[in-house]
Amino acid sequence: MLLDDAHILVTGGGGFVGVPTVRALLSEGARVRVLDVASSQRLDGLDCEVIVADIADEAAVSAACEGIDGVMHLAVLPLVLANAELEAAFQANVRGSFNVFRAAGERGVKRVVYSSASSAYGPPLEVPIPESHPLRPNAFYPATKAAAEMLLRGLAGFYGYSFAILRYMNVYGPGQRMGVVPAVARCLLAGERPRLTGDGSQGFDFVHIEDCARANLLALGADVDGEDFNVGHGTSAPLNEVVGLMGELLGVRPDPIYDGPMVSATPRVGDVAKPQAMLGFSAEIALRDGLAGVLDELREAQTAEVL
Ligand SMILES: NC(=O)c1ccc[n+]([C@@H]2O[C@H](COP(=O)([O-])OP(=O)(O)OC[C@H]3O[C@@H](n4cnc5c(N)ncnc54)[C@H](O)[C@@H]3O)[C@@H](O)[C@H]2O)c1
Repeated sequence: MLLDDAHILVTGGGGFVGVPTVRALLSEGARVRVLDVASSQRLDGLDCEVIVADIADEAAVSAACEGIDGVMHLAVLPLVLANAELEAAFQANVRGSFNVFRAAGERGVKRVVYSSASSAYGPPLEVPIPESHPLRPNAFYPATKAAAEMLLRGLAGFYGYSFAILRYMNVYGPGQRMGVVPAVARCLLAGERPRLTGDGSQGFDFVHIEDCARANLLALGADVDGEDFNVGHGTSAPLNEVVGLMGELLGVRPDPIYDGPMVSATPRVGDVAKPQAMLGFSAEIALRDGLAGVLDELREAQTAEVL
């Protein structure tokens, strides 16, 4: 699908991944409509239509799909809330996704891209994880992501539209409010000792938000149907490296407090050969450069608060 002049609906377009995705779509010439349960100041000044509604609201989702060529489905009740609030997580992530995928079919949408998560794989049986790895989620949030993947497969088959599924690894970047990267950055900027669970050796495949936005656009535009793709670098960085890099960038020597159990023994690192071959996608932003951007954004925000 050509994105220039295409009408694209971005659910959750006011969120962390949503805002850079909307920006990237607009710069490709797409006409963008956002459906998000919360209005976001981060969309101010962007030339997009914003509908404030819940994806659990069938009628609102159906209306939002009117005249749409492609849907980028990002809306989600995030991990921490979803693992605690089961009913709300089901309504948003499963029932809401069903509404989006069904409305797309009813309204004649041509293509749907769903942002799933690498956590849908569960504890990896092999690393790097190929997309053919079974989905064995071991918590409720990833179970809702896996469930929505299955709903998309079934509904795309029923209605006959094309689709792609993206499984992001650990996304970080400016605009992130939760997660280990902003938590460590805030501590170091405040001159405090960051707190890490485990011994800091546990690794994660940190992928920058702008790389995710690029993957989203490539998946929307690609002439491939029914495929799933990992979105990451295909390598893992230990938390100690993340802290060390931020210390170098700030010119300080971090002294983390190691506290609590190891999060995961096996790093969740996806095989990245398939997105490279079929979407022409490789994550490009090096961790050091991405972390520099995170620190810049937080410093600017702190300066703005003081003024
Ligand atoms: N951030 C990550 O590290 C990460 C990793 C893997 C996968 N993902 C996936 O990427 C997608 C986007 O995640 P994100 O990090 O931008 O999350 P986010 O929480 O920053 O944004 C989600 C957006 O969805 C909106 N939303 C929540 N419930 C809604 C509802 N019921 N109806 C309409 N809108 C609703 C929120 O208001 C928010 O703007 C999600 O599908 C998530 O599962 C993210």
